[in-house]
Amino acid sequence: MIINSLMGPLISAGIIGVGKELPEKAVSNQDIVDMGLDTSDEWISERTGIKNRYIADENTSSVDLAEIAAKRAIENAGINVTDLDGIIVSTTTPDHLMFPSAACLLQSRIGARNIFALDVSAACTGFNYAISTGSQFVRTGQMKNVLVVAVDCLSKFVDWTDRAVCPLFGDGAGAVVLSEVKEGYGVLTVDLSSDGRYGDILKVQAGGSRQPMNQNGFDNKEYLIQMAGRAVFKTAVSKLVPSISAVLEKYELSVEEIGTFVFHQANIRIIEFVKDKLGIADDQLYTNIHKYGNTSSASIPIVLDDKKSSFKEGELVMLIGFGAGFAWGVNIVKWGGRL
Ligand SMILES: CC(C)(COP(=O)(O)OP(=O)(O)OC[C@H]1O[C@@H](n2cnc3c(N)ncnc32)[C@H](O)[C@@H]1OP(=O)(O)O)[C@@H](O)C(=O)NCCC(=O)NCCS
Repeated sequence: MIINSLMGPLISAGIIGVGKELPEKAVSNQDIVDMGLDTSDEWISERTGIKNRYIADENTSSVDLAEIAAKRAIENAGINVTDLDGIIVSTTTPDHLMFPSAACLLQSRIGARNIFALDVSAACTGFNYAISTGSQFVRTGQMKNVLVVAVDCLSKFVDWTDRAVCPLFGDGAGAVVLSEVKEGYGVLTVDLSSDGRYGDILKVQAGGSRQPMNQNGFDNKEYLIQMAGRAVFKTAVSKLVPSISAVLEKYELSVEEIGTFVFHQANIRIIEFVKDKLGIADDQLYTNIHKYGNTSSASIPIVLDDKKSSFKEGELVMLIGFGAGFAWGVNIVKWGGRL
């Protein structure tokens, strides 16, 4: 039976390489004040934890950043681009609104040929959705090596005169290579969720099939990010605390058994609120929001790249994404296990 021969035992799928790329231009809080906005370094730092972010210039796109992050992850994994069987790109800021997909463009840029290429759109939870998808292909033996890149250039979609939104976001890309690892290592859990009733609290109104872009939408800046900051804050914490608790309970783990909690870097106060509610210790948390701002779905793999040399073999790393949709997700990864 041909069908039976395609089905093998489940394979452990894990992260074997990590990379990132940030644009060259650093923009500090003071730089934003100097642009003429009625804000201060103190206000932005205290309310968000952000001190700096990197902004792509007009010649740099998401795929430009993704290409460099991808090449670094492939090099870090010690494989060749020809070893890849699939590419998944998490982005809400692809180079083109409809097509071609960012994944197809990236495939060509890195020199991969004739392989699976898919864009995933789950806003700031995109990395969780993308590695969950990619790891299933490795786990079932359908693919050997899957490149997952999360990239966003939200700076191109913020109103740089809106002090409530523009200081929050930065651009960047983070990438991982998923492959077979030792049994029991890798992406252990996939708990993803969404609640579209909260779609309005963080959205881009125009440019889609509901409201194609026209002069009116342009004049009203409806192609830019609109955010109800307080509602986003409240929704995030109200979804995250019970979700993380439920995941720990489901897999019979205590907070103490997680080596590192890697949150989507949206706002230090959201992270600290959840940390305090769950009793997460200081040394179980790693944050870099002060350096990069909110890089949307890239923020989790950028943390992984910053911290990759200090994760311990076999450490449980919890990846927690949340954002527009409203969507959120948790993955537990057992680090290492390289074959
Ligand atoms: C955006 C956020 C920092 C605003 O903080 P906040 O304490 O909720 O502030 P509010 O929006 O209620 O605004 C309070 C006041 O601060 C002002 N304000 C907003 N941004 C400001 C800034 N950068 N500098 C100075 N004042 C600012 C508001 O205009 C408002 O002034 P008013 O009282 O005169 O009307 C906060 O709501 C937040 O972080 N939300 C989550 C956003 C997020 O993480 N989004 C991405 C999710 S993936």
